[in-house]
Amino acid sequence: MAFKLTISGASASYGAVRALENVTLNVQQGETVVLLGTNGNGKSTLMKCLMGLVRPTAGTITLEADGVTHDLTKIATEDIVALGVALVPEGRRLFSKLTVEENLMLGAYRKEARPAIARNLAFAYEAFPILAERRTQLAGTMSGGQQQMLAIGRAMMSSPRLLLVDEPSVGLSPLLVSQTITKIGELRQKFGLTVLMAEQNFQQAVRIADRGYIIVHGSIAYEGKSVEDLKTNPLVKQLYLGAVA
Ligand SMILES: Nc1ncnc2c1ncn2[C@@H]1O[C@H](COP(=O)(O)OP(=O)(O)O)[C@@H](O)[C@H]1O
Ligand SMILES: [Mg+2]
Repeated sequence: MAFKLTISGASASYGAVRALENVTLNVQQGETVVLLGTNGNGKSTLMKCLMGLVRPTAGTITLEADGVTHDLTKIATEDIVALGVALVPEGRRLFSKLTVEENLMLGAYRKEARPAIARNLAFAYEAFPILAERRTQLAGTMSGGQQQMLAIGRAMMSSPRLLLVDEPSVGLSPLLVSQTITKIGELRQKFGLTVLMAEQNFQQAVRIADRGYIIVHGSIAYEGKSVEDLKTNPLVKQLYLGAVA
């Protein structure tokens, strides 16, 4: 059944700070869409709006799932998770004093996911064998790359249909960025996920994206219908590919 995220004319603020302005964006079932933007342009705010952690001051955010349209601006975060949306937050937000397995278990709070805990745990370990090897290790003692795998594994514990990934490349070496992005692409293939990923690493993000948007100062500055579209856009060349426009 159809699954579709639609953001229409969304604005958001933190007090006097305008973080999003009239953002319109959609993600269709099975797509991997990248939200490209450098620091401070509103990527995380958009992700938080999708999870109900920041409420837009204007506009609509809807998730169409199995013939029912849900207004994500009106429902609680846990209900958004229950609809099959999971966020891998920027900076991973792991519990460093808990073990790998305990961190994974905290991702399984979606009601529908609970009967499937054993299966999802097996599945997280299958997706990331390193997590199985390290299941009793404290999360805070893992390397940056392993922590990112754990953060993604934790999001997968709620059996999401739509995976939101906020800047997976932050703080990782180029090799680990590449491995992490490849892994997200593999998960999408293997589990039929729909993915919205915020990134500023253009070259890595477009390896797995179908299309994308560029966000500048909280507004969508360009919508690329394909990766080719993005690569040839003057704004992308200026912001991400080192060329002078
Ligand atoms: N909790 C907050 N309080 C006040 N301003 C914030 C807060 N979070 C983000 N901002 C501001 O909102 C804007 C967008 O930030 P953010 O969404 O984090 O951008 P990005 O993820 O693209 O780096 C920035 O100007 C940032 O300083
Ligand atoms: Mg951010």
